[in-house]
Amino acid sequence: MAAKQKTLQDAFYETLKDVYYAEKQSVRALKKSAKAAQHDELRQAFKTHAEESAGQVERLQQVFEIIGKPARAKTCEAMQGLTSEMEEDLEDFGDSPAADAVLAGCAQAVEHYEIARYGTLKTWATQLGYDDAAKLLDETLQEEKKTDQLLTEIAERINAEGSEEDAEDADEGEVKGKSRRATKASDDIEDEDADENKGKGRRKVA
Ligand SMILES: [Fe+2]
Repeated sequence: MAAKQKTLQDAFYETLKDVYYAEKQSVRALKKSAKAAQHDELRQAFKTHAEESAGQVERLQQVFEIIGKPARAKTCEAMQGLTSEMEEDLEDFGDSPAADAVLAGCAQAVEHYEIARYGTLKTWATQLGYDDAAKLLDETLQEEKKTDQLLTEIAERINAEGSEEDAEDADEGEVKGKSRRATKASDDIEDEDADENKGKGRRKVA
């Protein structure tokens, strides 16, 4: 007799096990990131999402219950890869001024993986008629998206502050605050350059 054909129901259960593993691992990665982060806002974002993720693990347990299957974790190679990249980046950049930016980037890679997985699981849950499970998965999906957005905003602020400090270091010996004014005025300078080039162009033509 031919082996029983696998169904969407089987795919749902297998993916659920994968995400269960991934989520547990992301709680550990977030706690580690919170310890490594220098910037207060970034550290707080990691702490908050570590707590949130512990709740997401519980939601997954509820989904296992809804489909009447045991809550089991299956090694998620993707999350293992993402977290080992994070370890590597921490070794390479841990003491550098780019450390926080690198950490935020690693965390966003994890969020994007989770967003992809929860999006799929939510759709499949609806298709399989597990409306309560779909609702739980959507709650987590929204938290992941919100975290990703927050990390984008924090990373932009960290990088802006970082480049300001770089500019100040470069201007060492010159009048203090000059570089800050230059940074703020950089947009105007760019506009002036553009105008100047236009002028040059016109002169060339003439
Ligand atoms: Fe998560």
